[in-house]
Amino acid sequence: MSRLIVVSNRVAPITEGKSSAGGLVVGVLDALRETGGIWLGWNGNIEPEPTQQPVTESDKNIDFCTVALTQRDYDHYYRGFSNGLLWPTFHYRIDLSRYTGDDYAGYLKVNRHFAQILASSLRDDDRIWVHDYHLIPLGKACRDLGIRNRIGFFLHIPFPSPSVLTTIPPHRALVEAMCAYDLLGFQTQTDVQAFVDYATRYLGAAVSGNEVKIGDRSIKVGAYPIGIHPDQIRALSKQSRRSKPLDALKSGLQHRKLIVSVDRLDYSKGLVERFNAFERLLETAPRHRGKVTFVQIAPPSRQDVQGYRQIRRQLESTAGRINGKWTELSWTPIRYMNRSYERALLMSFFRVSQVGLVTPLRDGMNLVAKEYIASQPAHDPGVLVLSEFAGAAAEMRDGALMVNPYDVQGMADALDRALSMALDERKSRYEHLMEILRKNDLSSWRDRFLADLGD
Ligand code: ADP
Ligand code: F6P
Repeated sequence: MSRLIVVSNRVAPITEGKSSAGGLVVGVLDALRETGGIWLGWNGNIEPEPTQQPVTESDKNIDFCTVALTQRDYDHYYRGFSNGLLWPTFHYRIDLSRYTGDDYAGYLKVNRHFAQILASSLRDDDRIWVHDYHLIPLGKACRDLGIRNRIGFFLHIPFPSPSVLTTIPPHRALVEAMCAYDLLGFQTQTDVQAFVDYATRYLGAAVSGNEVKIGDRSIKVGAYPIGIHPDQIRALSKQSRRSKPLDALKSGLQHRKLIVSVDRLDYSKGLVERFNAFERLLETAPRHRGKVTFVQIAPPSRQDVQGYRQIRRQLESTAGRINGKWTELSWTPIRYMNRSYERALLMSFFRVSQVGLVTPLRDGMNLVAKEYIASQPAHDPGVLVLSEFAGAAAEMRDGALMVNPYDVQGMADALDRALSMALDERKSRYEHLMEILRKNDLSSWRDRFLADLGD
């Protein structure tokens, strides 16, 4: 059997029970648990010298091979080009994008370094699966070293339309580098189409079916929406039934209804608009005042990137303003928490809530939307309110209440509708969504991608 080597910037923490916020880590870890394999990436540490030899730690059937970054590499590759340019641009926030040639050079350098590390221990029949925007040029860097293995790339975030992508000065080099892969996977058909549009218009590609021909190279492209293991999540959501934090949450609610949101604290998640929508609900539907609590869990993310510090301050002042205005002696409308919770606990919070509010301005997939549904009790499920700009909308639009996150009143109306929805309608929406989640679960995401990558 050929080995599977996964490469991503972030690697799951090996410490048992330690959970990590971020769809890539959650998805790849669960997917690799079943197949076994090697997972190469950054260990989250900064060291004075670049790592030559990765440190390998094994946990059951996965070998975690990790390297540190130097401060300079971290600044240019991770903080600069990946999170100061690619992340905002791919999420349509060109107002937050910052390009420098030094960042781009640092980005390419770290990608070459990862390729060298890969090359040093590669076997002929290994399959390589590269993940996400930090490592777009890794396939090309591998080819430059003479690596001929099958290499696939999966993008967890949106792929922007050409008019947005072309604001990145080296856009052509980036997309040309993507053509070194054998298979390119995206979250949705919209992302595939955006790539194809760029490739035909700027690289003269010819497209037939799922094949894109550029010069003498032919690559496969496709949509592989990432899933979850709904039945595992369901079991997880029941595990913490008698835990102290869940008891504390419930006793604080005093039988009020609960709206819950969980996101990394990222400007792409639409947090400020969401807080405003909750306030609009209190303004326009006074029967909910004192009767519903909104819990937002948002662990800080990438705090050394400017846009993230800004959104944190903005959210603090929005939450403070709304709570200052509406809080009563016995009721605080918004509970806003900057921390992570263990997965089982998070899923139990979902389970006891009446509404899951998932309203990103732009999101590759959004696994929280899927986890929210899978955590619901079948006899009395909560309602998912979902942004049309989440990748998950492509699969979940018929069961969720769909909203435009720029429409504050529309979101308030959807909340009102969700809080008042009859049991029969909630059940039929839930059953429909569970069927979809089971059909396209995490194993089928991985198996479809790897089958198309081939041997
Ligand atoms: P992203 O990849 O942009 O962070 P996703 O919604 O796709 O967004 O994935 C987030 C993942 O991280 C989900 O599996 C979610 O349960 C987990 N997560 C998010 N916030 C927290 C938190 N506060 N504590 C623990 N896990 C979290
Ligand atoms: O899926 C989106 C994603 O950016 C992953 O690539 C990343 O691992 C995760 O969110 C968390 O971000 P970071 O690795 O920058 O902490």
